[in-house]
Amino acid sequence: MALTPLMSSTAVVLMAFAAAAAVALHPAVAAVSYDRKALVINGRRRILISGSIHYPRSVPEMWPDLIQKAKDGGLDVIQTYVFWNGHEPVPGQYYFEGRYDLVQFIKLVHRAGLYVHLRIGPYICAEWNFGGFPVWLKYIPGIRFRTDNEPFKAAMANFTAKIVNMMKSEGLFEWQGGPIILSQIENEFGPLEWDQGEPAKAYASWAANMAVGLNTGVPWVMCKEEDAPDPVIDTCNGFYCDYYTPSKPYKPMMWTEAWTAWYTGFGIPVPHRPVEDLAFSVAKFIQKGGSFVNYYMYHGGTNFGRTAGGPFIATSYDYDAPIDEYGLLRQPKWGHLRGLHKAIKLCEPALISSDPVVISLGNSQQASVFRSSSGYCAAFLANYDSESSARVTFNGVHYHLPPWSISILPDCKTTVFNTARVGVQTSQMTMERVGGFSWQSFNEEITSSNDESFTTVGLLEQINVTRDNTDYLWYTTYVDIGQDERFLQNGQSPVLTVMSAGHSLHVFINRQLIGTVYGSIEDPKLTYTGNVNLWVGSNTISILSVSVGLPNVGEHFETWNAGVLGPVMLNGLNEGRRDLTWQKWTYQVGLKGETLGLHSLSGSSLLEWGEVPQEQPLMWYKAFFNAPDGDEPLALDMSNMGKGQAWINGQGIGRYWPGYKAYGDCSDCDYRGTYNETKCQTNCGEPSQRWYHVPRSWLNPTGNLLVVFEEWGSDPTGISMVKRTIGSVCANVFEMQPSMRNWHTKENENSKVHLLCDFGKKITKITFASFGTPRGVCGNFSEGSCHAHKSYDPFEKKCIGQQRCSISVVPEVFGGDPCPGTMKRLAVEAICG
Ligand SMILES: *[C@@H]1O[C@H](CO)[C@@H](O)[C@H](O)[C@H]1NC(C)=O
Ligand SMILES: *[C@@H]1O[C@H](CO)[C@@H](O)[C@H](O)[C@H]1NC(C)=O
Ligand SMILES: *[C@@H]1O[C@H](CO)[C@@H](O)[C@H](O)[C@H]1NC(C)=O
Ligand SMILES: *[C@@H]1O[C@H](CO)[C@@H](O)[C@H](O)[C@H]1NC(C)=O
Repeated sequence: MALTPLMSSTAVVLMAFAAAAAVALHPAVAAVSYDRKALVINGRRRILISGSIHYPRSVPEMWPDLIQKAKDGGLDVIQTYVFWNGHEPVPGQYYFEGRYDLVQFIKLVHRAGLYVHLRIGPYICAEWNFGGFPVWLKYIPGIRFRTDNEPFKAAMANFTAKIVNMMKSEGLFEWQGGPIILSQIENEFGPLEWDQGEPAKAYASWAANMAVGLNTGVPWVMCKEEDAPDPVIDTCNGFYCDYYTPSKPYKPMMWTEAWTAWYTGFGIPVPHRPVEDLAFSVAKFIQKGGSFVNYYMYHGGTNFGRTAGGPFIATSYDYDAPIDEYGLLRQPKWGHLRGLHKAIKLCEPALISSDPVVISLGNSQQASVFRSSSGYCAAFLANYDSESSARVTFNGVHYHLPPWSISILPDCKTTVFNTARVGVQTSQMTMERVGGFSWQSFNEEITSSNDESFTTVGLLEQINVTRDNTDYLWYTTYVDIGQDERFLQNGQSPVLTVMSAGHSLHVFINRQLIGTVYGSIEDPKLTYTGNVNLWVGSNTISILSVSVGLPNVGEHFETWNAGVLGPVMLNGLNEGRRDLTWQKWTYQVGLKGETLGLHSLSGSSLLEWGEVPQEQPLMWYKAFFNAPDGDEPLALDMSNMGKGQAWINGQGIGRYWPGYKAYGDCSDCDYRGTYNETKCQTNCGEPSQRWYHVPRSWLNPTGNLLVVFEEWGSDPTGISMVKRTIGSVCANVFEMQPSMRNWHTKENENSKVHLLCDFGKKITKITFASFGTPRGVCGNFSEGSCHAHKSYDPFEKKCIGQQRCSISVVPEVFGGDPCPGTMKRLAVEAICG
């Protein structure tokens, strides 16, 4: 279909780039601008579907496949943040290699034919360590982050310019023939501005001007920043954004973060968002006139090494995204959204050239109709009722709308998609054990001292001392006990109290572990209190304070403390209470094993490793292994372990903490009704994260080194390598509407079940089939009160022994209607072998 671009008279064309115009071939057309309806690329308004994929959260070997899967899923744009602390670990020393090869990532997106939305930030939040800021930034004299502060603004301007110039010199902006159509400065600043007033306003306006002054030739956005100064576009982030109106009538309605679920934290349940609701929220946004939607995340990936923010952000950043942490399609999420994107694209000519007219179809039902003067018509029929389905009449035709759903009619007649009718199969993933390890151990020293240890009076803030080069800081002091202490006779041991700003600590008395405490994602502070056995003479109190990711969000989070700030008290002595806070304390940064580089092949080979002892705290373990065959993604099953870190061939797998069980509400999940991050959770009472992704590309065929540092003292023989594979496939679809049955429409496709096994596998067994009112989810279906007795028959006949099969969801196929008048669905589960 040929499109007639309608440039509105209020179009703001960002052509303020003299240099750009000189380089571009057709500067008048080859530009990205915007108007009140949409981004305008090369003179044409576009409805754009985007997805976040963060390059350092996977490995370069995964990038082409992730990008291709995003393209196949119907995306036009890949959105990524830029990770300052990964790129400038030391002031003025830049790193753009490996997982941080930003240019290579953008070039791969370009090669796949997709656009890029580059969110430079450089504050990015992102559940990333320190919100993306390098820790050294905190120690620039006089600095205050994200406010009208000269040292901060100078550093921010420097890094932003560095990235923009790099993109220009690589020819990556759209006017240069590259893929970047959009940038972002700052990130979710609105809430801070609200709290801080004038200095924040001045800073926001400075940031916008600084960015615009870099002449990128593409628009800038500021998300969650309603005051975004012209020409920067203010955009919405959230679970729903249909309520959002840009601050100026000539700016388009854009959704920079459509949350596909939420992050995982240690100690909290794992969030999931039903695809029916996600699709509903996107359709609702488009029907209101929105023209840009970005899924945050489309592939979440992994917080490798110590990159997780926090504190207490988990290593997995899966986000229940359409492409899972391992790079596999998450079905039915990926497939159902793909159907949504196709339907939206069919509506694009009408969407970009008209404004919606809303018609009421019932109490909670309405139609949004886009009818252009050139004859295009697209309609969205919505049922906002969160309980019941509805039958509506639109243009004289009856339509059946499931609860909390939107049907899309690209020609104002034919339903090609309904957000609640998921016709795509579900793949039930399993973690299949492929082997264990044979371990050796090395005992970490308790209170060792090295060249860098030092002694001073009083307690020091942890990050001030470690500069976050390690999670670990030892605090050591001594307590003299006289022979006349009464507790030596009466057996009432003194009580030690240690107060810490976070995030976790282990207390040792005379080298014996006496306790472990840790904070939570809501409150990182913690207090240790316990009885201690002290002997006559000098006793050593050693506290290993452990950080678990630096904060990534919150007002002036750069000033938040970690570590043992006290008081530290000893109660129950003859003198009553002895305050140890202002004694001399000896500090040692990091573990001995870290100094020795035990995580690496070279470091670990320098010393003798021993047998694995019975559950001892602070132990290093190492094992060699060969790469499992096949190409399925791999993970470590750490479910038996407590807390620590793991490395493979020197690369950081991340922090593991299965010992921290998730506490929360995991009751049933219904797609209907307003979603929030606590609604559809799993893992209550279990580890928040059990499996840890091992990228295949980090392995050699043989002789791989796995090193684990375990703080709590769990037995490593329980660790195993697992492969992620498809266990069973399921489908769960509504029956076809009677009124639609005689039509040859795409809805017929929507009302068929398709089962498909991986290449080389066949359907070996139907483990469940019910046409009626089945309940439950893939892996745990059960029959409802209505069930057709011949539910299994068509599957047994047409599917067993096949790689794929399709069955129409109409009563005749299952031996007749088991409960006339009730809206039925079909649930089926099959095993591929
Ligand atoms: C800006 O970058 C230049 C060159 O890399 C460096 O010399 C300067 O110190 C930086 N300034 C700030 C404030 O970071
Ligand atoms: C961090 O160290 C600096 C000096 O290096 C000191 O002025 C500051 O008070 C310390 N901060 C804390 C919280 O201890
Ligand atoms: C989140 O959703 C749950 C379940 O629907 C609800 O009980 C809770 O109040 C919601 N929380 C917020 C903050 O809206
Ligand atoms: C299976 O579903 C039933 C109810 O439909 C529920 O009570 C049970 O906990 C579920 N089992 C699992 C393993 O999810």
